[in-house]
Formats: sequence, structure tokens, C-alpha cells
Amino acid sequence: MSDDAGQRLHRPDDILREAVIDAARDRLTLDPPPLDGARTPDELAAAAGTMITGSGLGGERALGLFTDVIAPACLSMDHPRYLAFVPNSASEAATAFDMLVSASNIYGGSWMEGAGAVHAENAALRWLADRAGLPDGAGGTFVSGGSIANLSALAAARHRWRRRGGAASGSPVVVLSRGAHSSIGSALELLDLEPFLVPDDDRGRFRPAELDPATLSGIESLGERVAAVVATAGTTNTGSVDDLDAVADLATRCGAWLHVDAAYGGGALCSTSRRHLFDGIERADSITIDPHKWLFAPYDCAAVLYREPEEARRTFTQHAEYLEAVNDGEWNPSDYAPHLSRRARGLPFWFSLVVHGTDAYAAAVDRTIEVTELAAARVRASEHLELVMEPELSVLLVRRPGWTPERYRDHCERLARDQVGFVVPTTWRGETVLRLCVVNPVTTPDDVTAVLPPPR
Ligand SMILES: Cc1ncc(COP(=O)(O)O)c(C=O)c1O
Repeated sequence: MSDDAGQRLHRPDDILREAVIDAARDRLTLDPPPLDGARTPDELAAAAGTMITGSGLGGERALGLFTDVIAPACLSMDHPRYLAFVPNSASEAATAFDMLVSASNIYGGSWMEGAGAVHAENAALRWLADRAGLPDGAGGTFVSGGSIANLSALAAARHRWRRRGGAASGSPVVVLSRGAHSSIGSALELLDLEPFLVPDDDRGRFRPAELDPATLSGIESLGERVAAVVATAGTTNTGSVDDLDAVADLATRCGAWLHVDAAYGGGALCSTSRRHLFDGIERADSITIDPHKWLFAPYDCAAVLYREPEEARRTFTQHAEYLEAVNDGEWNPSDYAPHLSRRARGLPFWFSLVVHGTDAYAAAVDRTIEVTELAAARVRASEHLELVMEPELSVLLVRRPGWTPERYRDHCERLARDQVGFVVPTTWRGETVLRLCVVNPVTTPDDVTAVLPPPR
């Protein structure tokens, strides 16, 4: 093969480069972006045709495929009426800067290769640790999502339990409540940790004071088998915060690691109106906070923080002949989760924090809470809707008395089809209800009202 053919991939192409940057600029300036939505595999196959060929389609057609076929088949998570699951509303500063992070192609796994990026990411992690009240020595890394952050934290917890000789008492157990996120259950399965599931309260919270004596003595009888206790600060289904201080007391009594999953709720650590709900989080051994949920960072960006990072380092540091040059005592993000190569995914979050300052973050989170409250007031005042429970953070559960699960589903499908908004039903104690989650400061009370069930 000639050099010419071998170097085709890397030959500069001014036209293609500018076209891609223009397309990114266009997407950044859409206000609002179209909601868009999924298409069937057959529809996509027909619209896209053969994409990957021996000689390539060329830049213009490839970019057209993305802008005309691929992108419109992806929901715009930043649309102000995307209120399903946990949306994303990255700041423009963060999203724009993400393009520069990509262009710089920084290796974010080690200090040796990415010292500057690691320094910046650590400043952002420190800010999160300060919001939680973790001590000076705390630290961690950014991983792809809350699921991997939870897995990392529980792997470190298991490591400490083993190191302290827990295995002499039997197999490891993790205490969690029914309100814990599904990723905790999946981490326990992957790590072969046995769950001890306790009931949640009438808002989906883990409140040890409300556990019956049989459950409490069940936990006590596990003795040193309890490797960790998991609390959730912002349950996904109801947006409630566990009684963190009481769960911390329980973990202390068990001599166990306390993990707090604040993947969604962690944004409210910088809220002025809701910070008090998080009292006790400062006692955690590890915390998950996803800036790609409620802290205005683009995907993917989730923080796992450790009170004592050394425990995580012992768990995750990889050793190989060729790697020892990297294990030189400096801070390597690869030591704090099951990863080695990594994108410096914390940088867009860091940049936006530096640009806007932390007060803007507090104001943005408080705004979403205020909009949730205003929307809740409208539901309360309505004659055809009911609040399933008062919101604690920014999740609203709304009941339309008389509606079957099919009516909720049809309503959501119609909203998506008509490009009004995107919401999905959930169930609460077996009953189908509408669930909305507000994390976008651009979302207004009218946007929320627009997706609520109509009177008839
Ligand atoms: C409380 C909680 N934990 C963990 C996760 C999983 O996060 P991710 O989707 O980023 O893996 C979620 C997702 O919504 C969540 O709400």
C-alpha cells in the first residue's frame, strides 16, 4: 500500500472540518432544539441505507447522514419539555468546551500523561467534596455514569471489608432500601454481594427509625458480614432523600462502609433551599454525584468520591511491567475506578464552573426546584389531577384519577408524536402515575403544565 493511501485518514480536510464545526455550532444555537424521537430499526435502516463501505461515502454524505437521519432519531435531552427519567441540561459553556476537549484528545488516566486535566478535574471534584462536607483528603474520579460510580464505590467497600478480615464472619452483605437505584442491585450482583433489602417509607425513603424491630435485629444478627450500607440522596422514582444521618448511624453500628448514591440529587447540595436534607452526607465513605444529571454537564460525567481514596487505590490500581512508570506516586484517576484509558470527562463541568462561578450553579438548581414547586401548586389547584406526594427535590408524581395505565401510556405517546414534550409513566406502590423530573433551568411552569394530563 502506498504512503498516500495509508495516510488518507490523516490528511487535513478543510472543508469537512469546517462543515463539522458549523454543524456543531448550529446544534449549539438551536433554542429550543427540536424534541425529535426514536424511529424503528427498519425505518432507520431504510433512511440510512448502507453506511459503512470499502471506499467511504465522503464527508458531505456522512455528515448529512448524521444531521438528517441519525440525530433526529435521538431525543433532545436538553429540550425544556423533556421531563422523563433524569434529563440533561448542559450549559452552553460546558457543551462548547467539550468540543475543545475532544479536539485535544487528552489522555485522562494518569498524571504523567494528563497532569493539567487531572489538576482541573480534581478541582471540580474538590468542589463537590466541599459541598458534601468531606474532609480534605477526600478524592475520586469522573466515570461514565452513576452506575459505574456506584459499582466502583461498592467494590472499594468490599475490598475494605475483606482487608479488615470480614470474610471470617461469612459472605459479605450490603444493606439497602427498596428506594435504592437499580444500579446498586446490579453492582451487588456483579460483585457477588448479598443484598439485605429493607422497606422504604411512604415517600420511598430509607428511614431506619421506621424499620420494625424484626428488620433491625435481622441486620444486627448479620454482625460483621455487613460490608456496606447504601443510602440514596435523591431517589430516582420519587426524588426523596433518605434520612442520611440515621443511615450513617446504622452503618457506624454495623462497622460498615456508608455509600451515598446522590447521582441525581447531588445537584441539590449546592441549593440554598434544600441543602439541609443532605445533613449526614458528610459521614459517607463514598458518594456518587452525576454532573450530567443536575449539574449542567454534558454526557458522560459522573463523580465517585471517597473519604479515604487510598482504599480505592488499593482496589483499582493496575500493575503491569509497562505500567509501573505511571505508578509514580502522583494522582492517577485510573486508580479510583475500574478503568485505565479514560477521556478527561470532568473538564466540561470544570470549565463551566470556572466560567460561571458557583453562585450561578446554586441559582440554577434553586430555579428548577422553584419551578417544581410552582408546577406542584398548579396540580394541587387543579380539579382533575392529584399530587401523589409533595415533592422534596425536583421530581413530581402526578395522578389523573380514573386513568388506566393505557391512558397514561397513550397520553405520553401523543405528546411525543405531536412533539409537545417527552414524559413517561412510572408506578408508585403498584399504581401507574405520571412522573416528571425538572433539572433544566430553562423549563418553565408552563412547560410542565403542557405535559400534564388534560381534564378529558
Ligand atoms: C439515584 C441514581 N443512581 C444511579 C443512577 C444511574 O446513573 P447513570 O444512568 O448515569 O448510570 C441513576 C440514574 O438515574 C440515579 O437516579
